Amino acid sequence: NVLILDFGSQYTQLIARRVRELNIFCEIFPYNHVPGDLSSYKAVILSGSPFSVRGDDAPHPDLSQIRGKMPLLAVCYGAQYLAHFSGGEVAPSNTREYGRANLSFIKSGEDFFSGVSHNSQVWMSHSDTIKALPTGGVRLASTHDVENAAYRIEGEPTYAIQFHPEVYHSTDGKRILENFLVGIAHVPQNFTPNAFVDDQVAELKEKLQDDKVVLGLSGGVDSTVAAVLLNKAIGKNLYCIFVNNGLLRKNEFQNVLDQYKGMGLNVKGVDATDRFMTALAGLEDPEAKRKAIGKTFIEVFDDEAHLLTDVKWLAQGTIYPDVIESVSVKGPSATIKSHHNVGGLPDYMKLKIVEPLRMLFKDEVRRVGATLGIDPELLGRHPFPGPGLSIRILGDITKEKVRILQEVDAVFIDGLKSWGLYDKVWQAGAILLPVNSVGVMGDERTYEKVVALRAVESTDGMTADWVHLPYEFLMKVSNEIINKVKGVNRVVYDISSKPPATIEWE
Ligand code: XMP
Repeated sequence: NVLILDFGSQYTQLIARRVRELNIFCEIFPYNHVPGDLSSYKAVILSGSPFSVRGDDAPHPDLSQIRGKMPLLAVCYGAQYLAHFSGGEVAPSNTREYGRANLSFIKSGEDFFSGVSHNSQVWMSHSDTIKALPTGGVRLASTHDVENAAYRIEGEPTYAIQFHPEVYHSTDGKRILENFLVGIAHVPQNFTPNAFVDDQVAELKEKLQDDKVVLGLSGGVDSTVAAVLLNKAIGKNLYCIFVNNGLLRKNEFQNVLDQYKGMGLNVKGVDATDRFMTALAGLEDPEAKRKAIGKTFIEVFDDEAHLLTDVKWLAQGTIYPDVIESVSVKGPSATIKSHHNVGGLPDYMKLKIVEPLRMLFKDEVRRVGATLGIDPELLGRHPFPGPGLSIRILGDITKEKVRILQEVDAVFIDGLKSWGLYDKVWQAGAILLPVNSVGVMGDERTYEKVVALRAVESTDGMTADWVHLPYEFLMKVSNEIINKVKGVNRVVYDISSKPPATIEWE
């Protein structure tokens, strides 16, 4: 187990991902919340930071329980922090050191740089520089501009690097992390999907005993994997509820419900379409729509949960990025859109929360899902927002608009699948615009709806680029939509990236 102390760097999550790729379990804690008991940790990594160590408001944690007592790797700000407070010198650098650089000097015979070739490319991102090493410092590497690009401290397992090993542009970054964690700190590489499943099942059995657990399924990857994992641990005591809000993709409710039943899950499908439509009637404002859906979902779920007796736990498919976000150095970021599914349930339900995936990244959830035997097609599904098609129908929602958009979306998604493009795209969907345009069909004038198609590449939805889908494909899909879907006479393609646009239109 590895502890990563976060000083607020944009790359901290990446450090954790790289460490996990080595099959080593790690946890991120903000620098001001160091766990009291460090006995389960075999090594500590200090992250980078937007601060300067010389600033008064900069993070200055007490490392006395860590430094010299266990293997420590300090990255970027961490490296400067150690230098600044231990007899070295940190000063603003003359040139802003940002981007690619090469290790022009590597001290030979150091395990830390074992297998790293001369001139190896590294990624720099800092404006302060380490002018003098701390007491006991031994220089391990330099670049053309940065003399102290890496050092260790004589007589203790403390290593420091100015560059970012976690960024892909650092070609040997993973190797360096491995040299430190495995070669020097001897951390076991036993964090695999299989081991995770075995541990979690045992832990869930112990924690939940004979208690009943309720879980809301969404058709998405996270809630499905959470359900299958819980089912493996507690079987019949897991009660799943799958709500149809009437805003799902075409035939999705029935198809996914059948799939869940085929997986042996104890699941109840609740068709609440009319309740959602009533709650949405006349609402045009995006936030008002989101809030109405969130509220209705809680009401429906609550009614269903009350039909069950003696339920003690609510299970959720929360994953690690949400957990980190809620405890991060910077605090939760500004609300751009209210996500309906992170609101939670009313207090009076008094359920205890169990979140079996709270330590996993998305790609790890997929691998755990594969280990559990879940259909690869389900695991490879694009993300789909909780408020469903309502945020892809601009303006007010009616059943007829939902029907039109479901048809358009089905043509687009089926097309992506049959052209072998679905898995190359991170997320795709169609948007129904509140605009009519004039067209001509046969000899008739038409005045019908415009739809937009959107397909993006992304890793986590935080940033996204529009996908350059082949013109040939767009042509076929556009023809098919206009010919097949009554009420639509024009198709456009969204070529905006996030930021400054967002993925969804509302
Ligand atoms: P935006 O539109 O903010 O979307 O760029 C980023 C990602 O989040 C999804 N999204 C949601 N997912 N509940 C969800 O579960 C929501 O309320 C919600 N709003 C947006 C969106 O589909 C994209 O993947």
